[in-house]
Amino acid sequence: MSRTIAALYRFLYAGVLSRLPEPAAIALGQSVLRRVPLDRLGWFQIDDPRLAIRLGGVSLPNPVILAAMYYDPAILSRAMGLGFGAVTAKSITRQARPGHPQPNLVRTLTGAGPGLVNCNGFQNPGLDAFRASLASVPHRVPLIVSVAGESIDDYVTLVRGLGPLGELIEFNISSPNTKLVYEWSTKPGELAALLREVRAATTKPLIVKVSPDFAETNEREIIPAALKAGIRIVNYGNTRKVTERRLSQGEGGLSGPDLFPATLENLRRTRRVFGADLEIIATGGVDTPDKAVALLQEGANAIGYFTGFVTRGPILARQILERLCERR
Ligand SMILES: Cc1cc2nc3c(=O)[nH]c(=O)nc-3n(C[C@H](O)[C@H](O)[C@H](O)COP(=O)(O)O)c2cc1C
Repeated sequence: MSRTIAALYRFLYAGVLSRLPEPAAIALGQSVLRRVPLDRLGWFQIDDPRLAIRLGGVSLPNPVILAAMYYDPAILSRAMGLGFGAVTAKSITRQARPGHPQPNLVRTLTGAGPGLVNCNGFQNPGLDAFRASLASVPHRVPLIVSVAGESIDDYVTLVRGLGPLGELIEFNISSPNTKLVYEWSTKPGELAALLREVRAATTKPLIVKVSPDFAETNEREIIPAALKAGIRIVNYGNTRKVTERRLSQGEGGLSGPDLFPATLENLRRTRRVFGADLEIIATGGVDTPDKAVALLQEGANAIGYFTGFVTRGPILARQILERLCERR
């Protein structure tokens, strides 16, 4: 059944979604997610206690996480019924942000498969409006709230404001689309202070989301500083910064299968260096069950993806879960 749905979605993606201009395809996809009760069809979830994991002490029904991108509460609610073990909300900033002008998302197609490059620029409703909208989201699976700021004070305010509404908190120091967030990785001293202050601001489990563009700094400075501050979960990682003339900013974050080899390599190295002290969410390029299994076999506690949700459809989570069940 899931194979048929996956094949139908591939046909829909190749024949329709990938031919529409990007803004129209996004509007169509999000409108379907909002309006069509896909989660009630029973096609997507697998309830099998063998798949359950703990992340930062929180129970997840399975290790497959929807990575940060959506902030609409209707879509977050829906995604919670589409097989994921946890759903991550988009990174929220203190004030609302309109994001960068169009074009801010384009498709890529390489030998590895279909991907995206975005310069979204943190389009989001801001802390107060997002907090209010989250009240309507039932936590059918854990919600990971994500925060992004330009100062320590921003992060502390965001973590205090949003923390009570999520089971885990991810703090984003790695999106390449706004200079000030991306630059945290170039200031490890200040970043160490940020990690300490954020840790002191909440009792919830914290995830630091790092950039694949700073592998050496992550290993030498950022992850050791996170562990020292008492932050034990790393999401490795975000998009990779690339030049892209079609985008309004002339550059953006690459996501999708081109990231996968680096995701696997970064995971292997990080696990080897930091051992079992660290919990790792491996994100970047997962768009098949084989890739998800490879990351879990190499020591990821959980895997995350976003682009695969768009290019392979909502059925991908179920396909991964089926494969994991076969292996248990
Ligand atoms: C359009 C778009 C928006 C994104 N927004 C965020 C965000 O707000 N915060 C964040 O940490 N990552 C964000 N990401 C990065 C994803 O969560 C993920 O880390 C990245 O796309 C790599 O995974 P993938 O190859 O499975 O997509 C965004 C990605 C895309 C494509």
